[in-house]
Amino acid sequence: MNHPTRRILTGDRPTGPLHLGHYAGTLANRLRLQESYECFFIVADLHTLTTRPGRQDVARLGENIREMVLDYLAVGIDPQRSAVFLQSAVPETYELNLIFEMLVSVPRLERVPSLKEMAQAADLEAMSFGLLGYPVLQAADILLPRATLVPVGKDNEAHVEVAREIARRFNALYGEVFPVPEVMLGEVPSLVGIDGQAKMSKSLDNAIFLADDARTVEEKVRRMYTDPRRVRADIPGTVEGNPVFAYHDAFNADRAEVDDLKERYRQGRVGDVEVKARLSRALNTFLDPIRERRADVARRPGRVEEVLQDGTKRARHEAILTMAAVRDAMGLYRLGSE
Ligand code: TRP
Repeated sequence: MNHPTRRILTGDRPTGPLHLGHYAGTLANRLRLQESYECFFIVADLHTLTTRPGRQDVARLGENIREMVLDYLAVGIDPQRSAVFLQSAVPETYELNLIFEMLVSVPRLERVPSLKEMAQAADLEAMSFGLLGYPVLQAADILLPRATLVPVGKDNEAHVEVAREIARRFNALYGEVFPVPEVMLGEVPSLVGIDGQAKMSKSLDNAIFLADDARTVEEKVRRMYTDPRRVRADIPGTVEGNPVFAYHDAFNADRAEVDDLKERYRQGRVGDVEVKARLSRALNTFLDPIRERRADVARRPGRVEEVLQDGTKRARHEAILTMAAVRDAMGLYRLGSE
């Protein structure tokens, strides 16, 4: 099969609204890349079942899926260019997943560090078969549209490595069907939360969401963790590792202002109140166009559904082609071919 040289697949589990950490880690990358690559953005609802298969959790998916697609459109993912699609609505995903399950060993999957962390975070007594297979399902996602590049956060790097191994193994056994996809990490691989303790995450309650309004952003910035030794504005402060400056670096477009603030902070010539006020302003300047686009989309009833329907149709088209090539290469018996 011919490999398009510039095709991307990446995406997220619909577990809640997206935040600044998602933007810095991967959304910014996607916006840039959609200019020059053919992009497939997956809403990975099946992956949420690996840790949250309960009825209540499944019931919340619809709402989360719509919110996430709205976030995508709000940041500027262009559905004309890029296919935004729903994983569970592409049945070939389940098919390729099963074939791939035969091409990777259990001990190999047991060595993927993120799986144990996910099991712990979800308070699971033991890892399910499906959770162990998380990277295999992800390999099916990546390889169904025969993606060549996978932009993800650091926590997904090991999963892409599994996908690469599976692609190589399939090709070695049955012939060249799959490109071996490259991983691409974001410029800010992990953004610290407003608590300064851990990376930004919804479950740790330390996130600024893309959908937060201006006042919420101001409040969150006001209670942000900074250099704790700095009880007065005239004490020289530390910029490195200070979350307030990490956000200035990532989101304040006025570089001269950031440099000036850093210099005065180090010299004890600026208060935290001013540094934070300028951060709130910068963040709201950054978020304003996102808020506008969100409001535009929200004014069009059925728009989110339409984007998903259209994207899923495009993803399915590729998936069907790939599965035909897979069956062909493997020489699986074709019923009715005699
Ligand atoms: N594992 C990703 C996450 O952490 C979601 C995901 C599912 C994904 N399939 C993918 C990412 C394929 C990149 C490529 O949420």
